[in-house]
Amino acid sequence: MRKITVVGAGNVGATAAQRLAEMELAREVVMIDVAEGIPEGKALDQWESAPVEGFDTRVSGSASYDLAEGSEIFIVTAGVARKPGMSRDDLLKTNAGIVASVSREIARVSPEAIIIMVSNPLDVMTYVAMKESGFPKERVIGMAGVLDTARYRSFIAMELDCSVEDIQALVLGGHGDTMVPLVSYTSVSGIPLTQLLSQERIDALIERTRKGGAEIVGYLKTGSAYYAPSSAAVQMAEAIAKDKRRILPCAAYLEGEYGHEGIYLGVPCKLGAGGLKEILEVELTEEERAALDQSAEAVRSTIAKLD
Ligand code: LAC
Repeated sequence: MRKITVVGAGNVGATAAQRLAEMELAREVVMIDVAEGIPEGKALDQWESAPVEGFDTRVSGSASYDLAEGSEIFIVTAGVARKPGMSRDDLLKTNAGIVASVSREIARVSPEAIIIMVSNPLDVMTYVAMKESGFPKERVIGMAGVLDTARYRSFIAMELDCSVEDIQALVLGGHGDTMVPLVSYTSVSGIPLTQLLSQERIDALIERTRKGGAEIVGYLKTGSAYYAPSSAAVQMAEAIAKDKRRILPCAAYLEGEYGHEGIYLGVPCKLGAGGLKEILEVELTEEERAALDQSAEAVRSTIAKLD
């Protein structure tokens, strides 16, 4: 790819830019932020690490979207983060305004781009980005499932004292307390998780996954997680940039899939060149379907608060 832009040079955005550059996913990585001097300074600092790290991706930053012109992918991290005690929905009004104006700027400078949304409340901000950019659903995707699944996998690896690489899992639904980790699709090198852990332990890991974001906020106090969120967003960008056609849980716009339409919700997606190539509909148990419906309802009611 020629150019990938990260909007927001805070912790998530700057860490994402660094990962993109170190992986050389594009010839150029741009950071955009309204905070004067921050995108320029962090970008220059990252570029100065290139001779040591050995990457040739040029990193630059600006407050002006003109620098982002012609980007193929935008990772949007702009907005305020949670403080202890806040839910992701508490960020709704502030971040909706920010994401709306960011999306219009993206459409202005790069009308063919793909947007990977990271700002919270995630499912609703992805919806705002689609509406405001006017982009088709194939080119507006939200990052939540990869992060939630990564947390779930990391907790399972700790519990079993085994490699994270051998753990396959799927977390669907909205990025919030109603997310739906699918035990029936969780395995360790093909071995169903239910053969390795008691239901009680599995339930505890699921609960920790649901509250994974809040656990980090509780420690950091002045902000929310950023290492794992930036990894997750960059994995989605990699799937698109390299046309890998990875199957990843992402927030996608539903038009009847899983019985829902007109909302963004975390579902298994195929990501490759052009963005979202396909939504996969998998079988769910009755319980899982009920949980997904409940999650969809939570997203729908947050969208309703927008107007
Ligand atoms: C989290 C926040 C960023 O899950 O939503 O860490």
